Amino acid sequence: MDTEDTGEFLLPRSRMANERLHAVIPGGAHTYAKGDDQYPENLAPVISHGRGAHVWDVDGNRYIEYGSGLRSVSLGHAHPRVIEAVRRELDRGSNFVRPSIVEAEAAERFLATVPTAEMVKFAKNGSDATTAAVRLARAATGRPRVAVCADHPFFSVDDWFIGTTPMSAGVPAATNELTVAFPYGDLAATEELLSRHRDEIACLILEPATHTGPPPGRRPRPSTPDPTPGYLAGLRELADRHGCVLIFDEMITGFRWSEAGAQGLYGVVPDLSTFGKALGNGFAVSALAGRRDLMERGGLRHPGDRVFLLSTTHGAETHSLAAAMAVQTTYVEEGVTARLHALGERLAAGVRDAAASMGVGDHVVVRGRASNLVFATLDENRRPSQRYRTLFLRRLLAGGVLAPSFVVSGALDDADIDQTVDVVAQACAVYRKALDAADPTPWLGGRPVKPVFRRLA
Ligand SMILES: Cc1ncc(COP(=O)(O)O)c(C=O)c1O
Repeated sequence: MDTEDTGEFLLPRSRMANERLHAVIPGGAHTYAKGDDQYPENLAPVISHGRGAHVWDVDGNRYIEYGSGLRSVSLGHAHPRVIEAVRRELDRGSNFVRPSIVEAEAAERFLATVPTAEMVKFAKNGSDATTAAVRLARAATGRPRVAVCADHPFFSVDDWFIGTTPMSAGVPAATNELTVAFPYGDLAATEELLSRHRDEIACLILEPATHTGPPPGRRPRPSTPDPTPGYLAGLRELADRHGCVLIFDEMITGFRWSEAGAQGLYGVVPDLSTFGKALGNGFAVSALAGRRDLMERGGLRHPGDRVFLLSTTHGAETHSLAAAMAVQTTYVEEGVTARLHALGERLAAGVRDAAASMGVGDHVVVRGRASNLVFATLDENRRPSQRYRTLFLRRLLAGGVLAPSFVVSGALDDADIDQTVDVVAQACAVYRKALDAADPTPWLGGRPVKPVFRRLA
């Protein structure tokens, strides 16, 4: 074993805590993406608490954290302005038998932040919002099929999407048949799909701009964090021409691309859009927003068939709505999206330099928009490799960096970024040795990390 390996970096308490989690919670986590199978064997920290950009595990180790709360904690943990707003509401009651005035304030505030939408309805999970968008599109068009972007990894926990993944057990084939897929960035292929299923497709749903390259096995398209010029406008035109609803899933892009989402940045207005994640800085709040005439189908002010549009017990929870308002105020007053971009740019430049100087610039590859960076770990043949990812993650963890991605939060400072880059440089030195050996096995410490979506455990 290499002397520079993670050596005595062990997590005995986290190991025990993972056992406890698996004994009582299927998957040992409340999101598969947080599962210990996503981390090197026996190096899956269980978190005790977090503050700002740092978290501590139950073994007492401190980490610089990236991708906090599955990208939901974009201001950092326990952000003072958010916590203060939440605390104020906690003392005033959190849910009532009638709507509270906080709901009107939160909706007005959201629509001021995202002016391309005319109405908004809140819920708790992103999936509720995307599923509601799909139902509304089906009701409005009278069409059964849903077209999802094939190059985006996740839209909902519900059957219309999960049926398209390798974990489709439990989803009836009849449901699957109603979901069809289109490639990101390819208007001709999308037009062909819409023509093939003429008058059957209710909506096109996609993330406006998180595409970072094709998954393995798919034909290559340009790897850029921005849509190619004219793409979103072209999709808008296609949706209009074919009479289907254009849905932007802004769960990730909202509050990372700009305060007004990717639609605010690129100037293309969808019919419906969905927000969540960073909207509440870790408090549970999601949103379905869009055109008034569509959204009103779920209201009481139209003569047609009513659509059951997001009706949830907890959607009205006052302190989460207060958190969302505080997030929006903080973003505007503190220029948070600009800060996220600046931090990400510093990190991306540092990691690229570190990788190049260690001779792995073609193997440790940073991709994506600066506010939403991911990394690829490529093997000797420049193919994506879970084994090299395992090596890389082990070195990062041992260096005090918890980074399944390089998605920044605004709580990071330059010292955190510089420390991360130092740790990455050390990891890259080991990566180079493994490439030279043409086999990372001695540096894995056990089984490789696994993909989230797979048929068998
Ligand atoms: C793009 C996108 N849409 C929808 C969702 C679902 O959100 P939630 O986990 O809050 O249901 C996610 C979650 O990761 C997502 O990334």
